[in-house]
Amino acid sequence: MAKPEVPLVFALIIITIAYTQCATFLPGDEAKPFTLRTLSGKIEYINAKNSSHLLPMVLFAYDPRSAYMEAIWTKDSSVKALIMNSTKSGNYVFMSYSDHALQDVQWMQKRVTNQIADLYLSGLGKRMHFVVLPVESMGNWIPLLLSKWTCQDFGCGFQQILVSTDSKFPYVINRLDPRYDWIGSPASAYKSSIQVVELDACKGSSNVSLSGKMAIAQHQKGCSYFKMVKAAYTVKAAGLTVIAAKNEYPVDMNCHGNECNVRYPIPATMISYAEGQKILKLLKSKKKVDFSFQTTPSHNFYFGIDGQGKIEETGWLLYPSFLYFTWQLQWYAYKSNLIHNIAEHAKVVQIFNDSTIHGKYGASAIVNLPPVKEYQDVQLDMALSCRGKRDEECPPWDHTVQLYVCCSNATSHCQQELGRWITSFRRRIGHWLTPVTPLLPLLSSSSCNFTMKTVPWAQPWFTTLKLRFSHKINTTVAKKKGTPLKPQKLIPLFRGGTFDKNYNKKYKPIHFNMTSKTKKVKLVAVITGHGSDNNNCAEFCVTSHHFMVNEKHANVRTFSNAGNSLGCAERVLQGVTPNEHGTWLYGRDGWCDGQEIKPWIVDITNQLSTKSVNTITYHGYYNHTDPHPTSKPGYIIMYSFLSLYDTY
Ligand SMILES: *[C@@H]1O[C@H](CO)[C@@H](O)[C@H](O)[C@H]1NC(C)=O
Ligand SMILES: *[C@@H]1O[C@H](CO)[C@@H](O)[C@H](O)[C@H]1NC(C)=O
Ligand SMILES: *[C@@H]1O[C@H](CO)[C@@H](O)[C@H](O)[C@H]1NC(C)=O
Ligand SMILES: *[C@@H]1O[C@H](CO)[C@@H](O)[C@H](O)[C@H]1NC(C)=O
Ligand SMILES: *[C@@H]1O[C@H](CO)[C@@H](O)[C@H](O)[C@H]1NC(C)=O
Ligand SMILES: *[C@@H]1O[C@H](CO)[C@@H](O)[C@H](O)[C@H]1NC(C)=O
Ligand SMILES: *[C@@H]1O[C@H](CO)[C@@H](O)[C@H](O)[C@H]1NC(C)=O
Ligand SMILES: *[C@@H]1O[C@H](CO)[C@@H](O)[C@H](O)[C@H]1NC(C)=O
Ligand SMILES: *[C@@H]1O[C@H](CO)[C@@H](O)[C@H](O)[C@H]1NC(C)=O
Repeated sequence: MAKPEVPLVFALIIITIAYTQCATFLPGDEAKPFTLRTLSGKIEYINAKNSSHLLPMVLFAYDPRSAYMEAIWTKDSSVKALIMNSTKSGNYVFMSYSDHALQDVQWMQKRVTNQIADLYLSGLGKRMHFVVLPVESMGNWIPLLLSKWTCQDFGCGFQQILVSTDSKFPYVINRLDPRYDWIGSPASAYKSSIQVVELDACKGSSNVSLSGKMAIAQHQKGCSYFKMVKAAYTVKAAGLTVIAAKNEYPVDMNCHGNECNVRYPIPATMISYAEGQKILKLLKSKKKVDFSFQTTPSHNFYFGIDGQGKIEETGWLLYPSFLYFTWQLQWYAYKSNLIHNIAEHAKVVQIFNDSTIHGKYGASAIVNLPPVKEYQDVQLDMALSCRGKRDEECPPWDHTVQLYVCCSNATSHCQQELGRWITSFRRRIGHWLTPVTPLLPLLSSSSCNFTMKTVPWAQPWFTTLKLRFSHKINTTVAKKKGTPLKPQKLIPLFRGGTFDKNYNKKYKPIHFNMTSKTKKVKLVAVITGHGSDNNNCAEFCVTSHHFMVNEKHANVRTFSNAGNSLGCAERVLQGVTPNEHGTWLYGRDGWCDGQEIKPWIVDITNQLSTKSVNTITYHGYYNHTDPHPTSKPGYIIMYSFLSLYDTY
């Protein structure tokens, strides 16, 4: 019998499947259309224009095989953060990988409404979409993207314990490791299996020895994880597995206050109450139980679609919390605002176009500028990216990036700093617009040499830099009216240096005269603290910078944000790159990872005398006095200027 011909419709389906299977997704690609069945009906995404009410969007697929993703939903503080810290626009799509997706999302919706009764009145409810079909039954491209964008490190993969007993086949349970910055994971400490022994860790001291064994201990309300780890350490256990309190889910164990200054060198992890009871039962019946720790690679759990309809990675979740999703939506709000500002009319001069910053010389370019004095404002439009399209292709460490400029006839101002940024930990999305108008005299001729550098050992970053000159001035009118004023001259002031007991000794007063032409004077400084002495100076210590004018006017810049645990995370709306692959959350001394340093500008005209010579002094303090490190001192990077304005 002759083989039946493949009907055309099947052929088409096969072609479609083949096409879908080969499809690649790259961050920055336009999101393709999709439909999702939700608890309140359905959402249909067509494109950025027709579906703008759905943008921006963060999509999060819960997976019961991941205790990490489960904790995001079960922890009250996480759900509260979702409600309290969400932007006024932006959508969440909640999905589930499990076969019980409908029950899962009904539970999720309840979790949210339990926190805020009038959620649906508040508007946030309308921007939360609960998908009723399992991820792999949604009939669109989203599961494919989630499987292609492999997930590595924090929160990725399924963290598991392989449980072996004398008599049975081994089985697998979920585990949740403590906060990354508190205690290590047993997965990195133990490659082979380890015997498990029960310990009453909430009771405190015990004189048994659990040497070489894994302690398993029931958590009770009011018993701190710190106390439990200490108890396990005291009996020489090789590690601790905590069983969640009665009917509770595993949480990411953390320390509080002074506890965090003591680190016991044993790893810990947590399992659910139900699984814990099974193991305790085995132990009570004198069965030998062994644990081994494994992480099975997983698909991804989340991604975003920005306000422009482009698919985007959402970075790392350093601990399980909805805060990371709220920060990602804040970033989209920041980005849409930035794109809006960049679309405004300006004379744009491209300096670098995806140029490599690497090695001793960094990136440099000689560029012809328009007559810059005809513009009232100048901004740096800077984007920092990486070789590839994925975050994982970016350099892992944060470094200072500085832009120097040297114009052909400006011998005195050669190699002064025009801009400063800090790279992010492994994210390729940073983009900032920085006003630098008072530094306009650095661009004193039509041909200027721009150099952008980071430390020579940093892996390459890619810079796209444009100068934006805006608000053109009709100089004829300006001359007649006497306004606006233009920055005409710069007086370089103080530079930074090693932040030790001699830091302030090198600074001498600077004297200058106002000419009758000078109508306004601005103090401009870009200051950042780096390094780590015994006081965490100067990256994580609060430093203050005092510019005294004529011995009586104090202009003080204090970085009180340094060392705050969410000091930089709370600045995503100001341009801090969210969800970096490192400790980006902490406040720094005058800076954040993945952000520009905005110049500090103070109008000091009223502090000056036109009749006599003016004097300006500087000193930098730690804790109201000279720094006095007892270990390797840190350093301050500072450029400071007076910018003198006069009429046309
Ligand atoms: C998108 O919107 C435009 C006008 O707003 C309309 O003409 C077009 O048909 C819409 N496209 C789709 C696919 O609905
Ligand atoms: C979350 O919102 C609360 C209340 O608006 C605010 O106090 C807190 O600083 C926010 N936290 C973060 C991490 O943004
Ligand atoms: C632990 O201490 C108690 C009382 O101090 C003692 O009776 C017991 O024998 C000790 N057990 C071990 C294993 O040393
Ligand atoms: C920047 O580089 C890209 C790729 O090489 C090129 O397509 C684009 O035209 C360049 N833009 C400018 C303004 O030179
Ligand atoms: C530099 O040259 C420009 C003309 O190209 C001139 O207008 C300007 O005054 C010069 N600046 C200095 C500092 O000599
Ligand atoms: C531009 O400045 C950099 C840094 O000083 C220097 O290495 C480079 O040679 C300069 N380019 C030209 C053409 O002068
Ligand atoms: C500047 O303003 C004057 C007076 O309003 C006008 O005559 C002249 O054309 C303007 N110049 C430019 C370049 O726009
Ligand atoms: C300021 O003016 C006085 C008097 O004209 C002069 O003696 C002094 O050198 C000037 N100082 C500076 C810093 O220019
Ligand atoms: C700051 O100085 C005060 C008084 O000298 C001292 O008591 C305090 O411990 C210091 N704080 C820090 C953080 O060093």
